[in-house]
Amino acid sequence: MRIDIISAVPQLLESPFAHSILKRARERGLLEIQVHNLRDYTPYAHKQIDDYPYGGGAGMVLMPEPLARAIEHLQSQRTYDEIIYLTPDGQTFDQAMANRLSLKNALLLICGHYKGIDERIREKYVTQEISIGDYVISGGELAAAVVTDAVARLIPGVLNDETSALSDSFQDHLLSPPVYTRPADFRGLKVPEILLSGDHEKIAQWRYEKALERTRLRRPDLLNRHHLPEK
Ligand code: ADE
Repeated sequence: MRIDIISAVPQLLESPFAHSILKRARERGLLEIQVHNLRDYTPYAHKQIDDYPYGGGAGMVLMPEPLARAIEHLQSQRTYDEIIYLTPDGQTFDQAMANRLSLKNALLLICGHYKGIDERIREKYVTQEISIGDYVISGGELAAAVVTDAVARLIPGVLNDETSALSDSFQDHLLSPPVYTRPADFRGLKVPEILLSGDHEKIAQWRYEKALERTRLRRPDLLNRHHLPEK
């Protein structure tokens, strides 16, 4: 998969893809990520990319021309399955959206800043608008990093043990069960006996029950969508 990201502050995206799982995915050629500096595409003096909003009001708006040039330049090199604008008024991101996006070949993500981007860019180029939650962050970069990470880890081969993405929280509308590692006795706090039993069937059953219990307590709204196993 190829992910291109257009940003006014590309420095914000230097680290999130340079370590751990995403770094390995890129090194293995499973994922290619390119961050593009919006200022490289502006025709205006002093590399200007934003201006005051028509009609007045606080904040600045990213101008349409630099964004259009960046998008069209990238489109001339490949076809994008989706052109995604990260914005708090977009559709709220969830695991189902991550699953769907992980099946695509090429995504173009556009990060807004300040008061956002000129509406005409949204109308003319953007195919999908995503919010990472009901709060406002300073720009789309961290949101783009969240979406990229959630999508990339689902690409086959990115995680060593492919089943581990399938057992993630939310994948089956359940939260994950608690996990433990050594020592079995940490300052008097013991690991549940069953996890030391070696009985894989019983352990799987225990984990499922704990996942159900945790979901019931913390996110009962998810349970309506979880399919109980047939007995
Ligand atoms: N930009 C600012 N806030 C955002 C949010 N919650 N989701 C996506 N992009 C954003």
